Amino acid sequence: MRIGPLEVAVPVLLAPMAAVTDLPFRTVCEESGVGLTITEFLSAHALVAGARKAIDKMTPSLGGRPFGVQIFGRELDVLARAAEMAVAVGASLVDINMGCPAKRVVAGECGSALMKEPALAQEIVRAVRRAVPEGVPVTVKHRAGWDDRHRNAPEFACALVEAGAKMITVHGRTRTQGFAGKSDLDTIRRVRDAVPAHVPVVGNGDVIDVTSYRRMRDETGCDAVMIGRGALGNPFLFRSLAALSRGEADPGPPTVAERRAAWERHTGLIMQHVPAVRHATELKKPAAWYAKGLLGANALRLAVFSLRDAAEILATSRAYFLALAPDARSCN
Ligand SMILES: Cc1cc2nc3c(=O)[nH]c(=O)nc-3n(C[C@H](O)[C@H](O)[C@H](O)COP(=O)(O)O)c2cc1C
Repeated sequence: MRIGPLEVAVPVLLAPMAAVTDLPFRTVCEESGVGLTITEFLSAHALVAGARKAIDKMTPSLGGRPFGVQIFGRELDVLARAAEMAVAVGASLVDINMGCPAKRVVAGECGSALMKEPALAQEIVRAVRRAVPEGVPVTVKHRAGWDDRHRNAPEFACALVEAGAKMITVHGRTRTQGFAGKSDLDTIRRVRDAVPAHVPVVGNGDVIDVTSYRRMRDETGCDAVMIGRGALGNPFLFRSLAALSRGEADPGPPTVAERRAAWERHTGLIMQHVPAVRHATELKKPAAWYAKGLLGANALRLAVFSLRDAAEILATSRAYFLALAPDARSCN
């Protein structure tokens, strides 16, 4: 798939997820074969104001791998300056969030609220495009519409493309749906049909395995698929989809030993790249993610979430994974 000048070999993207898709998470997914990762959404305001917390999340992928930075806001000059900052740290693309349903975001008339203001959304794309070099594509991620009566994704996407967006990602739920119901494949198909063929449309929502990936591709005609929740503790899905995209056989679900190795790698990356004050908080998540569906997972989750010390969380999690039969196939 081509996103403007950027070539992406595997048509599978990791969805931006706040408090999830940090550098360790993105790295594990990249090493498993995902085509491209994108940071969580970052407030353009916070970036431009120099807020350390936001700036630190704009981390380049390891090994010079391409990555996207996602920003949100509604002021043209602020978004433009934030985009310049993303390019300065090496972003391969700048994605603009026009899909976030969170109250605090739409109260500021950002995120999915912009779907009600297509003219401003176009101005935003133009302003960000002007701020970044030609070689850095500007892309947008949005929803099916604001609510059931305003499912304007196809027209909205076309307006953004006219303004210069080089890729459109559609999560097929409306803002009012939040995460309820299903991602509507028909809406994504209508966006694909409406947008000029040279601009990739990425389908998003509820892809959790090879079957739902194939359904998304076949029923929408989308050029690539973006996966969020389905990747939690399951970077192996990217291994399968990368193999399929190369015409190879699906290596199938991981063994328990592979899950343990992925947990080791993920937590090792946390210890290496996350500041020590956040180790305890960040180490709890992979324990829950990689154990999900395995025997004793609930007890492990309760145990690690009751701990405060990073070394204890690591030891408890490691003991759990080591006690599992290594050749067992897990159920996902
Ligand atoms: C914990 C969490 C955080 C999210 N944060 C973001 C975000 O920062 N930017 C964004 O565009 N979407 C965000 N999303 C939405 C996802 O990118 C994606 O559109 C949604 O989860 C549907 O895809 P999925 O069914 O594959 O998870 C978030 C979703 C979750 C569950």
